[in-house]
Amino acid sequence: MKPAAKIPVMDLTAQDQPAGKAILKAIQQVIKQKAFINPPILGQFEQAFAKWVGRKEFVGVNSGTAALFLALKAMGIGPGDEVITTPFTFIATLESIIYAGAKPVMADIDPDTFCLSPVAVRKALTSRTRAIIPVHLYGHPCDMDEFMAISREANVKILEDVAQAHGATWRGRKVGVFGHAAAFSFYPGKNLGAYGDAGGVATDDPGIAERLRILRNHGHHQKYIHDVEGYNERLDGMQAAVLLAKLPHLDLWIKQRQAIAKDYNRALKSLSDQKIGIRIPPVRPETTHAYHLYVLRIKDRERISKSLTEAGISTAVHYPIPLHLQPCFAYLGYRRGDFPESERAAQEVLSIPLYPGMTKSQEKRVINTIINIFSGKSV
Ligand SMILES: Cc1ncc(COP(=O)(O)O)c(C=O)c1O
Repeated sequence: MKPAAKIPVMDLTAQDQPAGKAILKAIQQVIKQKAFINPPILGQFEQAFAKWVGRKEFVGVNSGTAALFLALKAMGIGPGDEVITTPFTFIATLESIIYAGAKPVMADIDPDTFCLSPVAVRKALTSRTRAIIPVHLYGHPCDMDEFMAISREANVKILEDVAQAHGATWRGRKVGVFGHAAAFSFYPGKNLGAYGDAGGVATDDPGIAERLRILRNHGHHQKYIHDVEGYNERLDGMQAAVLLAKLPHLDLWIKQRQAIAKDYNRALKSLSDQKIGIRIPPVRPETTHAYHLYVLRIKDRERISKSLTEAGISTAVHYPIPLHLQPCFAYLGYRRGDFPESERAAQEVLSIPLYPGMTKSQEKRVINTIINIFSGKSV
């Protein structure tokens, strides 16, 4: 018998079907008009995405990393300032603080949600803290009530990292509307992905938006007149066209992610409740998870992921080493044991396949294989 086809952790093919024709047409239009840099379609996408998020302004830039770093700069953060974030995130979150010239300060995560813990953040505040970057990791919203309370009490800015959470909600409102600014990534595998690098910042603050528009474009507000030192971090016409063509499908793709996650949760809940070394992601009444990734907590991760791989089911680890233990950040002076919850999570997290267009039979295969592995049956 032919072995069953491998199921990837992520597959972008299905997105090309409903959006494909519109994407090609939009790209052809950009080529025809030669509207590659600062094109009209960028403004159209910015308006459409600002409306989708529920913010007054959206400024497109050329990656999620640039969105974070330019947002910090646009909020006036730089040398001498401290910015608190989580060690359990993609490295770009921390890099952005360093690019802005500020000092990154880390605080541990809430072990249930994998998100930055407000309790830990309160302990890390100093007189130099100017901003906090809560990361809605995997698509699970951070506790935005707590972070906005800290912001008011300590007079610090909140920059949401929404790279993985397009469409997640906190108390019925989309994440990205809470902080002073919110950075999005449109890296191809994200919930809304470009055909290359892309990102942007959502904000209601016209001053932040204006500074971002200047910073992303070499610091000029008029051609060849530069008031500030800027960067070349523009979102190009090709990517704006792709994103604008895909945007009408985003809500459906998020719903598809949530439906698959619901099936996983339902099927794996009893294993999770048995406390035998597998835990499903949390389902909290005040949140809707956008399931950029479906991440299990597995005690014996290496053995389980090996069995899944042997059964043709791909897995991934987001992320195996927390940032305070990354060699490149040794100079920050953190040690093993500083953030025990992040260190434990890094040992136990396992992402399993989930993407729009995944079929019911693929879902079933993933579920049955996990159940069989945990009940000791051969797979
Ligand atoms: C949490 C988080 N922040 C920031 C980024 C950076 O986004 P980009 O890859 O678009 O620069 C990513 C992307 O991978 C991410 O997952």
